[in-house]
Amino acid sequence: MTDSSAKVTKAALNLGNLPPRKMSFAPPVPRTPTRVNPNQPPWPAFRGYHEYSFAHAVMGVRLPTILHKAIQDVILTLNAEYEEERITDLLACIEKMEQLMDDLQGNAKLRPIIDDGAGDVALWNKEISKYFKGKDFMNAPWLFAEAYKYRRLRECFSLSKFWVEYDVFFRQKCDTFSRSSAAVMELASRFAEPAAIDKGLTPDEERARNQLIFHELAQICLWGNSTDLSLLIDMTEEDIKALQSTGGEHLAATEKNIIGNDLKALGDLVTGLKGGRIDFILDNAGFELYTDLVFADWLIQSGICREVHFHGKILPWFVSDVRRQDWNWILNQCVYGHLFQSEDHGNDVAEEDVEHLRTLGKRWKQFEKEGKFQYHQHPFWCTGFTFWHLNSEAPDLWDTLCESDLVIFKGDLNHRKLTYDCHAPPSTPFAQAIGPLASDPGAPPICSLRTIKSDVVVGLPEGVAEHLDATETENWKISGKYAVVLLSYGDQDKETKI
Ligand code: F6P
Ligand code: MG
Repeated sequence: MTDSSAKVTKAALNLGNLPPRKMSFAPPVPRTPTRVNPNQPPWPAFRGYHEYSFAHAVMGVRLPTILHKAIQDVILTLNAEYEEERITDLLACIEKMEQLMDDLQGNAKLRPIIDDGAGDVALWNKEISKYFKGKDFMNAPWLFAEAYKYRRLRECFSLSKFWVEYDVFFRQKCDTFSRSSAAVMELASRFAEPAAIDKGLTPDEERARNQLIFHELAQICLWGNSTDLSLLIDMTEEDIKALQSTGGEHLAATEKNIIGNDLKALGDLVTGLKGGRIDFILDNAGFELYTDLVFADWLIQSGICREVHFHGKILPWFVSDVRRQDWNWILNQCVYGHLFQSEDHGNDVAEEDVEHLRTLGKRWKQFEKEGKFQYHQHPFWCTGFTFWHLNSEAPDLWDTLCESDLVIFKGDLNHRKLTYDCHAPPSTPFAQAIGPLASDPGAPPICSLRTIKSDVVVGLPEGVAEHLDATETENWKISGKYAVVLLSYGDQDKETKI
């Protein structure tokens, strides 16, 4: 057993004698599509042993730190248990987590997932045996190795008697939301009242007004992504507040940081809809989900959408990602919670603001009852496959997405999966980077709202990446200071392609 109370920042990773591979430029031409597979992305993959890449830091330091925190969470739960059978069952889960820590830090080979009866096991093991036989945590493509670690974490619980559904990240997800009161209340007070429908506006005037609101809400929803928990490890209360600021001035200042910016085209597409359907492929629970809900609320109230579909994860995933429990939690907290009145968080929130939040929560629950908000979870979202394989590995899911007028992919991980997480030149057009998702018959319009938190960057105007490389002091690809809003029109209307 490893000593789980030891500081994980001291964890040393045994990399054996793997040579570092320096890759300072991206080849200008991608691999031909027929030769693309999970171990051979269109451009070279990022792998944990590339010392120059963020992948190296994540595999060597961040993942062990996250796992250490997860073990601490389970210990907290264990300490509050009193039934012997539940305690011993949970101890077995902790032992498995410690084994996973050893495998991660010892750079073990990726073994098949143990059959726990879940529907995704076949998909995982097919991918491992076909593409990653003999590969280890550091030389498998980073995207797969990182996703695999979260599936192995699930395995620590899925064979238990009492703890199958245990979410080691749930506490953290709730805690960060409760520390976001300033921004939560600001949005609640602005959006609690049903959107005023201005009488007597011509269709053009109404569209122009909608475009202004869209412009602001889309950016709030975008920057909501900068506070994912896997990056918040060292953040202070003040840092979080600054990131979540939703005021108009702040938005105007941060818009220049959207360095691949299709906001205008996206606004035209969205405000051109009447009674349409928009899908959100969700990313993080808590504050980010709250901004998604505020945005979706307006889409329904403005008449732009008749229904909004939300897609969450079935497993505890990349720390902060939304699961059904997190969805239920936030809706119920808005209506019934005392989160922001809790002394623990030093929150002193006015009753009027709590009432605004309650109004929002009630309306969203009502939307859910009426089918205006629909929550889904498909196992495909928690596999190691990139979204280039959506159609082949989850055709049912792809078919339903093709019925949408717009599919919005939130966040960094979704962006990595859209683009095959590889070393494409930064000026690669988005539609090229997402391959079949833009070109397959019936492909819907797809948009990525992502604050940039990892190496893959596409969709930038020529020269922007080079300029940032030369002028930024910190690594602009992982700081979360920059963002992209990128749109592909899909296969629906070739005439209007950007
Ligand atoms: O561990 C790194 C990572 O996978 C990065 O892709 C990103 O920084 C983060 O985790 C997840 O970000 P998001 O929640 O935006 O997908
Ligand atoms: Mg996430």
